[in-house]
Amino acid sequence: MCGIVAYIGKKEAYPILIKGLKRLEYRGYDSAGICLLNSGLNVYKCKGKVADLEAFASSKDISGTVGIGHTRWATHGEPNDVNAHPHYSGNEKLALIHNGIIENYDPLKKELVKRGHIFKSDTDTEVLVHLIEDVQANENLSLAEAVRIALTQVVGAYAIAVMDKSDPNVIIGAKKGSPMVVGIGKNEFFLASDATPIIEYTNEVVYLEDEQIVELRVGQDPIVRSIENEVMTPYIHELEMKLEALEKGGYEHFMLKEIFEQPRSISDSMRGRYHVQSGTVTLGGISDYEQKMANAKRIIIVACGTSWHAGLVGEYLIEDLARIPVEVEYASEFRYRNPIINEDDVVIAISQSGETADTLAALELAKSKGATIIGVCNVVGSSISRITDAGSYTHAGPEIGVASTKAFTSQVTVLLLMALRLAHKKGSIAESRFQRILASLEKIPAQVEEVLQSAELVKYIAGQYKDSRNFLYLGRGYNFPVALEGALKLKEISYIHAEGYPAAEMKHGPIALIDAEMPVVVIAPSKGSYEKVLSNIQEVKARKGKIIAVVTKGDTSAAELADHVIEIPETEEELVPILASVPLQLLSYYIAVMRGCNVDQPRNLAKSVTVE
Ligand code: AGP
Ligand code: GLU
Repeated sequence: MCGIVAYIGKKEAYPILIKGLKRLEYRGYDSAGICLLNSGLNVYKCKGKVADLEAFASSKDISGTVGIGHTRWATHGEPNDVNAHPHYSGNEKLALIHNGIIENYDPLKKELVKRGHIFKSDTDTEVLVHLIEDVQANENLSLAEAVRIALTQVVGAYAIAVMDKSDPNVIIGAKKGSPMVVGIGKNEFFLASDATPIIEYTNEVVYLEDEQIVELRVGQDPIVRSIENEVMTPYIHELEMKLEALEKGGYEHFMLKEIFEQPRSISDSMRGRYHVQSGTVTLGGISDYEQKMANAKRIIIVACGTSWHAGLVGEYLIEDLARIPVEVEYASEFRYRNPIINEDDVVIAISQSGETADTLAALELAKSKGATIIGVCNVVGSSISRITDAGSYTHAGPEIGVASTKAFTSQVTVLLLMALRLAHKKGSIAESRFQRILASLEKIPAQVEEVLQSAELVKYIAGQYKDSRNFLYLGRGYNFPVALEGALKLKEISYIHAEGYPAAEMKHGPIALIDAEMPVVVIAPSKGSYEKVLSNIQEVKARKGKIIAVVTKGDTSAAELADHVIEIPETEEELVPILASVPLQLLSYYIAVMRGCNVDQPRNLAKSVTVE
């Protein structure tokens, strides 16, 4: 899931590459490297973060106006200096960076070894650059042509950028399954995994399609060819992203900034999509498909991680309000279990990045079976948003922290609007309930602001439990997915083992874990199965578990039982997940900070999982 960036133009490439890599570091950060064209092709790479690479390169010749850079999340070969990208070809005439997996690297490698190639690294990537070299040398081809022909032999996913010492004025990019954006400036071009390294230089970009190869040469328009060697006309998009959204803006971590941004990001997700006075909800992006969605015999939601949790809330919302059966599937399971899908099905993919390989592949499968595919993505122009028939963007703004926070609340907001729209269309919701939910939705941004005021209290609670080895999160109904999400947040950034459970299911197993050492976070709002959750709290208390309860403001019953209480304002049951997830995000954040963990870049993770 690495991040790749490339520059060719008149400016010094090094600062552009380093800054770009820092922006892309969310995609992987176990090693980093660059290649610059100056006295020759010079590769500098090392294990560690981009900052380590900077320290390493400080004593080297970093001049040059053409270069490529990579920040790695290892798939093949441990993270070390040798396996870091860029990789040279055997004769060191070519250098290449790669995001993805070359699935048939083993037979290709064996064949190349037979032909005399010697490999230095354990990566699949190095095979690719040797293959290109082999094709180029044997057939005496230009770099672009050699890349194209080599890629016809490749099975797997790739976004690559290649440089050639003997043709110094060109960079070749190509992609299949991994994202690649081409930035078009004045006398300069960029390649990157997403638009963030490009935005301050140009807002004109081309999203390369699968199996397209781009030739970037200064003083010439970019040439895009298909792998079948057809010349294609690239479509130039105008970027709307703002640079400030990519900076920390005074917060210590992106995650904290993103948690505190939620009043605004939720407003942005709702903006122009509902009207309380006229009692309407409109989602322009799906309007041509909403009849089909409303008539669907079932809706299948596919997603991974946090987005899958939002999908579970979506299931409850769509079934409850629009009365359409919904199944929520892990995209990675769905794609390999030979699911029954047909033309009557509607498949909704939820993805912050819009690039998650498993979700993308699940959609491709659904599409091939004739299902209608709908996207709920955050990143505009992402792969998922482009392959879907229709969709609603979450408009949460760039999310940089690896742990998803504002994307989740925005996903839930959009799914609620979708459920309301479909319910209205179907006439499955009483007007009074519809109005009530809309009126409550309008208050949500201000209520999230109110919840954020409990940050100090949450920090205090974090201090009490930061050394715990396990956590249990319990919730029922709409708040069961919130419990799962709370546990995931804690696991991924603080490395404390945590489990989310439906509160009533606890007695069927996890109750055995409860003792005086076990903090149990219970989401116990006054709406929904409140009394039942109170009983579950009693069950924990009877076994001396420590209870941290998220309750509705003014609640005294749960408060009497709990060791710590975090209040959220009163709202409709359907909206509680948005409010209740905020203190859980803060709890995991403060615990992770107190444990000295790298909150924005937790170990082993990457923001955008573009490999299977
Ligand atoms: C969330 O905190 C995670 N880091 C992860 O589970 C994430 O939600 C998952 O990888 C899906 O990503 P997506 O929304 O970009 O598809
Ligand atoms: N497969 C390549 C490697 O391990 C690239 C990894 C990736 O894109 O995640 O080096």
